[in-house]
Amino acid sequence: MKIVSFVGARPQFIKCAVVSRAIANFDGGTIVEDIIHTGQHYDANMSDVFFEELDIPKPAVNLEIAGGKHGQATGRMLELCEREIEARQPDLVLVYGDTNSTLAGALAAAKLHIPIAHVEAGLRSYNRRMPEEINRVLTDHVSTLLFVPSVAAKDNLALEGITGGVHMVGDVMYDAVLYYRDRIISKDKKPYAVLTVHRAENTDDPARLAGILRGIATAELPVRWPIHPRTRNALVAHGLEAPQNVEFCDPVSYLEMIALVGGASFVLTDSGGLQKEAYFLGKRCVTLRDETEWTELVETGVNRLTGADPLKIADAVNWAVAGQVPATELYGDGNAGRRITEVLAAVI
Ligand code: UD1
Repeated sequence: MKIVSFVGARPQFIKCAVVSRAIANFDGGTIVEDIIHTGQHYDANMSDVFFEELDIPKPAVNLEIAGGKHGQATGRMLELCEREIEARQPDLVLVYGDTNSTLAGALAAAKLHIPIAHVEAGLRSYNRRMPEEINRVLTDHVSTLLFVPSVAAKDNLALEGITGGVHMVGDVMYDAVLYYRDRIISKDKKPYAVLTVHRAENTDDPARLAGILRGIATAELPVRWPIHPRTRNALVAHGLEAPQNVEFCDPVSYLEMIALVGGASFVLTDSGGLQKEAYFLGKRCVTLRDETEWTELVETGVNRLTGADPLKIADAVNWAVAGQVPATELYGDGNAGRRITEVLAAVI
């Protein structure tokens, strides 16, 4: 069986590391995988470091489509993804998550009548202003196999009439944390919090970004902030300055991020992946968004939604700094990669 996998952005490299390893170790027959990098994330610390550190097979090709507006970038990816699929003639196309690379790979495959498998299907924020939400909904509706990480994701698909081809396998991000966790030692003994911000809804709106900074300023401990290029540019463009307690650094690798979260008192983020990594590593999470796709974290009481409201952030910081996270298994048992591979092998 031949698979073409499309990846392009940071969180996809991590998910791809898990599934590609499971594919390579699969003993039920040979699965050949070509990884295609769209080039969406191109800085060395946003891309290369993940391939090196996580032992991801070298991409067959990098399409080098970076930057540009959403329509332009997705359109250029669509054209080149189609070319790659035609040249490689896979039995199946594999896509991950919710980025523009996900949608482009899925749409190109759908138009060529190649079955699509979507890893991390069924997530919904129900906020159609997020580019990621559009990417998720459209990708799910053209997918043949939908690998869902949670009960809520399965229910979301059912509400949209998608019940065939849905497989609850757990979350590949949990597999990743379990696999890499033992390699990580947190160096820092002093208390600190970790912050990340990159969602367009926060970075492109000066009032929201300013609100987040005001909320962060109330934390009575250092706040480590590996800053995304989008956000670094936004701070300059909006003329905003970070509060005194912020310690900036460049974007960090996956293992460095897991070490940072593991050693932190708590996490503040608008990232989907980091909300779960906080949970997997026993940390409370303050989510700088008005809604989340990972609703079970909020329902379990380990994650609070604050939006960009400084008062709500301040309140949640007080809550988070004090708290423990109960050990529960909301996202499977850490064998999502193996399950995905078994389904692929059985179906194709
Ligand atoms: C993208 C995904 C988001 C995912 C995130 C992980 C979409 C719509 N969004 O958001 O779902 O959670 O990746 O980080 O696909 N840039 C650099 N260097 C890089 C990468 C990007 O400078 O290595 C710049 C781009 O040129 C652009 C901005 O950062 O100006 C944003 O990049 P983009 O790929 O549009 O989205 P992300 O915010 O990274």
